[in-house]
Amino acid sequence: MAGSDGGSAGADRGLFITFEGGDGAGKSTQIRRLAGALRRDGYPVTVSREPGGTPGAEAVRHVVLDTSAAEPFGPYLEAMLFAAARNDHVEQTIRPALKRGEIVLVDRFMDSTRVYQGASENLDSNFVRALERVAIADVVPDLTIILDLSPSEGLRRAHARRDPNAPADRFEKEDVAAHEIRRQAFLDIAEREPARCRVVDASREPEDVAKDIARLVAGVIEKKGIASSRSAAMRDSLLGAGDGRS
Ligand code: TYD
Repeated sequence: MAGSDGGSAGADRGLFITFEGGDGAGKSTQIRRLAGALRRDGYPVTVSREPGGTPGAEAVRHVVLDTSAAEPFGPYLEAMLFAAARNDHVEQTIRPALKRGEIVLVDRFMDSTRVYQGASENLDSNFVRALERVAIADVVPDLTIILDLSPSEGLRRAHARRDPNAPADRFEKEDVAAHEIRRQAFLDIAEREPARCRVVDASREPEDVAKDIARLVAGVIEKKGIASSRSAAMRDSLLGAGDGRS
């Protein structure tokens, strides 16, 4: 298994932010908005998603989500496939970007396995924890934003945005009760790990959700002392390296 020498994400120069929540909570829209705002402010940003983010992990995504080929072999095999994809993503994409000092935004990460495989499929919690340790290899998010939405609203949005001719994602075929179990499981994680996780009410207008997220992200940027090219330019000009008028 590749490198566990880098320590936690906290030991790197960058900032690692994950987005979690049920279907239709608006994660991808919010990640896009946040990435745009951060880039405009001069921060280097990497955006990725799970399962996926590397050629190997995208191949696993295809097997697990697009073809459902792994489904007959049960949730333990599936959980291991998600973990294999995650480890590849961590070592090939996330850890290198953090080492370069970037802000890394990832759509779903370890909490999705805890919730979708652990809570929903009732997998043994020791197994899920052991798998998580191997998969993330000490790269723990600095901030996890959980977009919270009622299952009925989430399903309504998920159906509305899908091409009516496309088949439903296998995770979208489930009933409201299954979605409610997952919502509660995400909220339980947030309660157990308040230093890492923040719950954001995703039932509101996207602009209002984005404002909350921007505030949370600004807080961790300040806490970790992440510099943007703009702040570096300002500092240089204050120190007399520039002409002082730009
Ligand atoms: P995706 O099409 O990316 O949709 P979204 O993230 O917008 O819901 O589907 C990813 C699906 O994979 C999603 O239903 C959750 C599931 N999943 C797991 O079951 N376990 C995991 O560890 C991850 C990362 C995802």
